[in-house]
Amino acid sequence: MTQIAPALRPSPARAADKAMRRSASLWVYTALIGQMAFALYVAAFYGGAALGGRFEDWNEVLVGGYRPGGTVGNVVLGVHLLLAVVITLAGPVQLLPWLRKRAAGLHRWNGRIYMVAAIVISLAGLYAVWTRGTAGGVAMRVGVSLNGLLIIASAALAWRAALGRRFDVHRRWALRLFLLVSGVWFFRIGLMLWILIHQAPVGIGKDFDGPFVRFLAFGCYLIPLAVLELYLRAGDQKGAAMRWTTAGLLLILTLCTAVGIFGAFMGMWLPHFAA
Ligand code: HEM
Repeated sequence: MTQIAPALRPSPARAADKAMRRSASLWVYTALIGQMAFALYVAAFYGGAALGGRFEDWNEVLVGGYRPGGTVGNVVLGVHLLLAVVITLAGPVQLLPWLRKRAAGLHRWNGRIYMVAAIVISLAGLYAVWTRGTAGGVAMRVGVSLNGLLIIASAALAWRAALGRRFDVHRRWALRLFLLVSGVWFFRIGLMLWILIHQAPVGIGKDFDGPFVRFLAFGCYLIPLAVLELYLRAGDQKGAAMRWTTAGLLLILTLCTAVGIFGAFMGMWLPHFAA
C-alpha cells in the first residue's frame, strides 16, 4: 500500500477550512442570483414606469412613494431607486475572489462606486423614511434607519482601512458593509421564507406591524452580521470544530436563502409583470 508522507496528509483543520470556504462560496453564488433578480425587478418596475412617465405606478408598492408636485422628495426617491440597482449589481461583484485577483483595478473602482452609492442611498433613505414614511410602524422606521447609519459607518471604516493599506481590516469592514447593504434584500427574502414555512402571514399584522415584522426590521441585518462574525472567528481559530459547525450552518442558511429568493421572486417581484 502506498504511504502518504505526513506533511502531505490533509489535516482535519485544513479539511474543515476547505469545507467552510466552499459553503461560504455556495452561499455567495446563491445570493448573487437572488440579488440579480432583485436588481432586475427594481430596474424593470420602477425604471420602466419612470421611462414611460408613469411615476404614480411606483405607489402600487410604495407607501410613502411618489407625490405629484413633491419635487425634492420625488427626486430623492428616484435617486434611491436608481442607486438600489447600481449597488445591488456592484456588491456581489466585489466578493468574487477570481475577479479581485485578475482585475484589481476593477475591484478598486467598483469598490469606490459601491461605497459612495452606499452612503448616498442611505442618506436618501433616511430622508425618505422621516419625511414620507414607509410600510409598517415605528419599528420599521427605526430598524431601517439604524441600518442606514451602520451602512455609513461601515463604508467609512472600510474605506479608511483600504487607504491605510490595512487589507485584513478592510476585508472585514467591507464584508460587514455588504451584509448591511443587503439588509433590505434580506428583509424581503426573510419575510417570504417565513410565510412559505408557515403557509400563512403569521405575525405580520394588519398594518404590517406584527411581532415578526418588528423582529425582522432589525434581524434582517443583525442576524447576517452575527453569522459573519462567527465565520471570521472560525477562520481565525486553529481548531476544526468551529469551522465544521460554521460550514454546516452556512449550508442550512444557503438552503433558506434559496427558498426565500424563490418566495420573493414568485410572490413579490414577478407579479408586477404578469399580464
Ligand atoms: C442600502 C441598500 C438599499 C437598497 C438596495 C434599497 C432599495 C429599495 C427599494 C428597491 C425600494 C422600493 C421598495 C420595493 O420595491 O421593494 C426602497 C424603498 C425605500 N427605501 Fe430603500 N434601500 C436601501 C436602503 C435603505 C435605507 C438604509 C433606508 C432608510 C434609512 C431606506 C429607505 C427606504 C424608503 C423610505 C423607501 C420607500 C418605502 C415606501 O414608500 O413604502 N432604504 N428601497
